[in-house]
Amino acid sequence: MISVGIIGGSGYTGKKILEFCNNHPYVDNYSIYGNSTAGQSILTVFPALAGIIDDTKILSVNEISYEHDLYFIALPHGEALKYVPELIANGKKVIDLGGDYRLDFETEYEKWYKIKHSSPELLSKKFYALADYFPASSYEGVDLIANPGCYPTATLLALLPLATEFAKDILSISVSAYSGTSGAGKSPKPEMLMAEMHGNVRAYNVSKHRHQPEIFQALEKQGFGSPFSFTTHLLPVAAGIYATSSVHMKCEVTESEINEIYNNAYKDSAFVRLRNTPPDLNWVVGTNFCDINISAKGKTVIITSAIDNLIKGAAGQAVQNMNKLYNWNEKLGLLNTGVEKCISL
Ligand SMILES: NC(=O)c1ccc[n+]([C@@H]2O[C@H](COP(=O)([O-])OP(=O)(O)OC[C@H]3O[C@@H](n4cnc5c(N)ncnc54)[C@H](OP(=O)(O)O)[C@@H]3O)[C@@H](O)[C@H]2O)c1
Repeated sequence: MISVGIIGGSGYTGKKILEFCNNHPYVDNYSIYGNSTAGQSILTVFPALAGIIDDTKILSVNEISYEHDLYFIALPHGEALKYVPELIANGKKVIDLGGDYRLDFETEYEKWYKIKHSSPELLSKKFYALADYFPASSYEGVDLIANPGCYPTATLLALLPLATEFAKDILSISVSAYSGTSGAGKSPKPEMLMAEMHGNVRAYNVSKHRHQPEIFQALEKQGFGSPFSFTTHLLPVAAGIYATSSVHMKCEVTESEINEIYNNAYKDSAFVRLRNTPPDLNWVVGTNFCDINISAKGKTVIITSAIDNLIKGAAGQAVQNMNKLYNWNEKLGLLNTGVEKCISL
């Protein structure tokens, strides 16, 4: 049994962590920390959880206690820097859902996030934990987990098996990815209003999305170094990410050859489902699954992948990472709990 602190538990991803931890057989208690909601009751902030969780007061992020074994951090980028070093120094395990510890180098962090990194020594100690890709042995001795971003999760699960096998045989990769508006969190933004987004689609942060260096960093580690482009779009849905990755190869490949590589890469994965047709977003929203389809013709491979940004792209993967960190069954709290298909935010 462990106890857990959920820092940022009053936000979108924090709420999902709360729901999963509440259902988890090995989490016996948790505290919820918030910012503007500190002092309020959690059921006032999330009335939908009445009858599901016990009511409790949201504590202030300024008064984090060190009583818990593990802390999830679900704060806007830059904020985790204030808490992570102290938590690690106090012997705690930390799973950070934000981007503050995902990149390996402080120069890259400062270039993309426009913030000076105040604990760069932790960048080399963290484990970038793409839960469905790395084996349980990778978690040994880990204190700080950088939970992958939502777009990187959908994109890397789609690309890593191919990039690992054919790193030097890929001419270029181009990814077009689409997200629902909950990807931007719960703070109000005019461009996310229903009146702006209903019936609408738009590309945003073209050539400057912070998830681009995160994806490239992981591909580069497999030996990939060819041109890579990544374009993000907003979809008029609340939740979900859909990524279409177009890979141009130097040589011809067959679909059966590629499918064999993916079947092998994900043979032990509980949450990656290889599909015979491009997935629908509806198949994964409300779940911790990533659905992937591969189509290969001549020298072109098209891979489509779909996830729920708040679950597989954030809270679900974070809980899966907790399970792997403690050497528990990775499905605990995530499957057959009654919350594995929770459509509401
Ligand atoms: N949304 C996604 O799909 C998604 C996916 C993957 C990763 N992430 C990452 O996960 C993190 C949380 O995202 P989210 O979507 O859950 O955000 P959110 O809904 O906006 O929630 C943010 C949380 O942080 C707290 N907070 C806001 N400003 C703060 C400040 N200045 N100091 C301390 N606490 C502050 C909020 O507390 P109050 O509510 O009490 O003010 C709330 O608990 C972000 O780093 C995000 O990039 C998000």
